[in-house]
Amino acid sequence: MAYFQPVALEHASRLVNHGPTVLVTSASDGRRNVMAAAWSMPVEFTPPRIAVVIDKKTFTRELMMESGTFGICVPGSALMDITYAVGSESGRDVDKYAKYGITPTTGPVLGLPLIETGCAAWLECKLISEPHTEEAYDTCFGEVVAAAADSRVFDRGHWKFDDSNASLHTIHHLGAGNFVRVSGMVAAKRL
Ligand SMILES: Cc1cc2nc3c(=O)[nH]c(=O)nc-3n(C[C@H](O)[C@H](O)[C@H](O)COP(=O)(O)O)c2cc1C
Repeated sequence: MAYFQPVALEHASRLVNHGPTVLVTSASDGRRNVMAAAWSMPVEFTPPRIAVVIDKKTFTRELMMESGTFGICVPGSALMDITYAVGSESGRDVDKYAKYGITPTTGPVLGLPLIETGCAAWLECKLISEPHTEEAYDTCFGEVVAAAADSRVFDRGHWKFDDSNASLHTIHHLGAGNFVRVSGMVAAKRL
């Protein structure tokens, strides 16, 4: 059964609005990579745009700049160890997909490697060229051109974290390899 379903672009910001640690995927000229990033956020609803801080020393940054594209995958708690691992070594000399047994799917619009197994959602992004913020703050902006989420945990435009889908609960980095995963979802009362 295909659990991943397209997410309407006007809802794409909700996939990262709550600040999950994400996996940034990239590819260029036959090379592919994946790294962890804790610093990402939506910056515009329509067209959907996001910002992510990608250190200029990373292999990811090199591939992003070459291709003008990047993917954002939202790992569930089942991928916590792999998230930490791909955030702790560079892909310059190793194919982290092969090393950690990750089989990516191919993004429908940009052809990026995207991770579905163990992830709750993904977004395909076109890099918006902003040389000043890239150089001065390592902050890269992207326009989301396609998004999808696992319907067991993101349904009709909204997250639904409950006991039935704990392995897909998003993870949030506290530092030094410690994470919390989302739980205890509560709805605000209208006052
Ligand atoms: C949980 C976690 C969060 C991270 N967040 C970021 C981030 O937001 N931005 C960044 O540039 N690096 C971040 N890193 C570090 C990169 O993932 C790390 O430098 C990685 O090895 C780069 O891989 P690459 O050279 O293959 O692109 C994070 C690492 C971990 C473990």
